[in-house]
Amino acid sequence: MSPASLNILLTGGSGYIGSHTAVVLQQAGHRVFIYDNFCNSDPAVGHTLQAITGHPFTVIEGDVRDTALLQQTLGENAIDAVIHFAGLKAVGESAIIPIDYYANNVQGTISLLQAMQAASHQPKTLVFSSSATVYGDPQYLPIDESHPTAATNPYGRTKLHIEEILTDLSKADASWRIACLRYFNPVGAHPSGLIGENPNGLPNNLMPFVAQVAVGKLKELNVFGNDYETPDGTGVRDYIHVMDLAEGHLAAVSYLNDAVQAHQGMHTFNLGTGRGYSVMEMVQAFEAASGKSVPFHIAPRRAGDIASCYASTALATRELGWSAKRDLKDMCESSWRFQQHTNTGA
Ligand code: NAD
Ligand code: UD1
Repeated sequence: MSPASLNILLTGGSGYIGSHTAVVLQQAGHRVFIYDNFCNSDPAVGHTLQAITGHPFTVIEGDVRDTALLQQTLGENAIDAVIHFAGLKAVGESAIIPIDYYANNVQGTISLLQAMQAASHQPKTLVFSSSATVYGDPQYLPIDESHPTAATNPYGRTKLHIEEILTDLSKADASWRIACLRYFNPVGAHPSGLIGENPNGLPNNLMPFVAQVAVGKLKELNVFGNDYETPDGTGVRDYIHVMDLAEGHLAAVSYLNDAVQAHQGMHTFNLGTGRGYSVMEMVQAFEAASGKSVPFHIAPRRAGDIASCYASTALATRELGWSAKRDLKDMCESSWRFQQHTNTGA
């Protein structure tokens, strides 16, 4: 049974996944408060979200390492639950400036937990954005939640450290309700085309790169390796529509606060589709959705890449009653709509 309307704080809520989740939560009847320092997002997101939903959003500018401001925000807005998206997420950059990653991601989470404990009403419902990167090189497929963890870069290690901190906290104080969501590869955009993923500089990830080639911003895609042990030799990943991912957060909040059976403790779920697509399949699907050609050439493998990665989604389906609904066509079409809007304002 779903909980009543809650006041939910989204740290990093103006970013890619947070903004889509804000829409889904608001439309499900919750009150959404966004807390972000805008280091990787647009302060105008509140206006865009209002344009999509017809409702105003409260957007607070702040850093998650500012414990006092967080505590004040939690108290003033009677926050019931927090979804913690805020963090730095570029794998390559994390190897160059690891301390910034640990400070922002790990210290930021500790600051948030301290603020939640210090707030007079002590909200103890937390959903955390983790990543499939914590599984490292897969030992078997599909990857379920009991697969061993072994991060291969500082970004992934920040996620693992945070997961350990949350596990310790839930053991020390059983009244916490924590969902740790391990996302596979989020792609796509809101159907309005008004919000989506808009990385600064050259995109690191496949989908935004392909979209920028299709729109003519970039010349061609480098396909990183075609000699993997996969059906067509290119890397296989579990791409999940960001709207499905957003709905996964709604399901997690409902699960933790279920009116019949509240779920205390720490609960870890994969959020993926359970289906893998290769780089070449993604290129073809994007060409079909956009009507544009996506020139590419085969480049050497990217260091640190794995051949295949896709999720077992059985646990999320059983416990959360959630599963991804949108297909690859929808992922590509929505991403293309957003790309065109971003480029032309159309
Ligand atoms: P994003 O960069 O679009 O959003 C993160 C938001 O957090 C941004 O708006 C940024 O300004 C904000 N932020 C960063 N540091 C902050 C701080 N110290 N204080 C306040 N705000 C801060 O990223 P996203 O793709 O929306 O990812 C959200 C979360 O999901 C991240 O924790 C990321 O590691 C995780 N994740 C993302 C992916 C992915 O592919 N996008 C995959 C797995 C996990
Ligand atoms: C990357 C991160 C992972 C993070 C995820 C978020 C690395 C090593 N891993 O995963 O930690 O959680 O993003 O979505 O960075 N590809 C190309 N050409 C490109 C870009 C990508 O061929 O220009 C290929 C890659 O080799 C891979 C696939 O496309 O096979 C997907 O790549 P990407 O979108 O970067 O995601 P991951 O590598 O799965």
